[in-house]
Amino acid sequence: MQKHKNGSFSNSLGFVLACVGSAVGLGNIWMFPYRLGEYGGAAFLIPYILFICLFGFVGLSAEFAIGRRCGTGTLGAYEYCWNRGEKRNPGKILGWIPLLGSLGIAVGYSVIIGWVLRFLWGSLTNTVLETDASQYFSEVTAFMGNTPWHIVVIVLTVLVLLCGAAAQIEKANKILMPLFFILFAVLAVRVAFLPGAGEGYKFLFVPKWEALANVDTWVMAMGQAFFSLSITGSGMIVYGSYLNKKEDIPKASLQTAFFDTIAAMFSALAIMPAVFAFGIEPSSGPSLMFITIPNIFRQMPMGRLFAVIFFLSVCFAGITSLINMFEAVTESWQHKFGMKRNAAVLLCGAITLLVGLFLEEETRVGNWMDFVTILVVPFGAVLGAVSIYYVFGFDKIREELETGRKKTLPGFFRFAAKYLYVPLAVIVFVLGLVYGGIG
Ligand code: ALA
Repeated sequence: MQKHKNGSFSNSLGFVLACVGSAVGLGNIWMFPYRLGEYGGAAFLIPYILFICLFGFVGLSAEFAIGRRCGTGTLGAYEYCWNRGEKRNPGKILGWIPLLGSLGIAVGYSVIIGWVLRFLWGSLTNTVLETDASQYFSEVTAFMGNTPWHIVVIVLTVLVLLCGAAAQIEKANKILMPLFFILFAVLAVRVAFLPGAGEGYKFLFVPKWEALANVDTWVMAMGQAFFSLSITGSGMIVYGSYLNKKEDIPKASLQTAFFDTIAAMFSALAIMPAVFAFGIEPSSGPSLMFITIPNIFRQMPMGRLFAVIFFLSVCFAGITSLINMFEAVTESWQHKFGMKRNAAVLLCGAITLLVGLFLEEETRVGNWMDFVTILVVPFGAVLGAVSIYYVFGFDKIREELETGRKKTLPGFFRFAAKYLYVPLAVIVFVLGLVYGGIG
């Protein structure tokens, strides 16, 4: 297997921050707070944390480990897993499915982060808070209504990756992720002082134990955990390939899962108390982020400043996730076609932009994201799980998982990987189809 020459992360902190950058995204911000309150408050945390620990320890670890083992990202990893020494290697085809999942999410994500950037600019210039938020949002999300900002998002992501590979990704995340956490903490503290915020904490944290008897609670917790950790059978493989052999993969995976959960909690604390303080119905998705939240900032003292802080930190979360999606595609094309890195980055940016231009409209991008996140990405995740634990084989991946680790893996790991994680990945895929999306 030809290994890439994209370098490696300098230490485990750099690695974990890059992975947290990939994991923390819109799912944490516009989905988790609503689900937490709606599906049982503190009671929701029980299934959620269970799934986060399982998927983090066994699922993320597997993607990191296969990347490090074969020394390349998505396409190379599937070739490696399925290689039986024969001429025909199904991995050469299969790897394209998760890779197209990464590219597909990148396309939709860049449209949406383009909206975020526009709202950031609108907050800086005060146009968002002066206008009716729904009207502003419909202007931004009209067909081709936000092209310049869409381009800016892609150019920024491309620029980061043109400046370098692993080392540059590490540098960007080392700056952007701590800033994200600090800014959201500032928001959470500010919001705590709003009169009426208490109702929001009740919504989030008073446990409604009966929710645990509701199947939907478990389904939503599972889908949320899966999507939030960016288990896609693609992006985390390439970051794993930038990890050196001294690092303890299962430990780094748990740290990634921990910080991803903290980010989700910070989002809940920054958003829901404010929603309740202003007597607004809690919601999720684009309407929460682009209509409800600007309406709140409009009524808040110094709302403009806090709107800037909010949209800036969402930009950081979005761009660090996009960097990972772009990198998965870039590295794979370098590997597969022997492309020069810069050419691969530019091609990825150009395709993302060209396809994205046709999706610059709320319903179109919504349908596209549904298709990619319900069908392609979970299928890619299943392919990853099966390819690593069954096709490549548990014993070989265990060797890699134990490299850099002082202790051997706990005894339950094999069972958790082969008989819990892999079937659950299949169940996430099937339930996503049944429910029309759970991630
Ligand atoms: N895991 C990322 C998110 O939560 C993609 O949005």
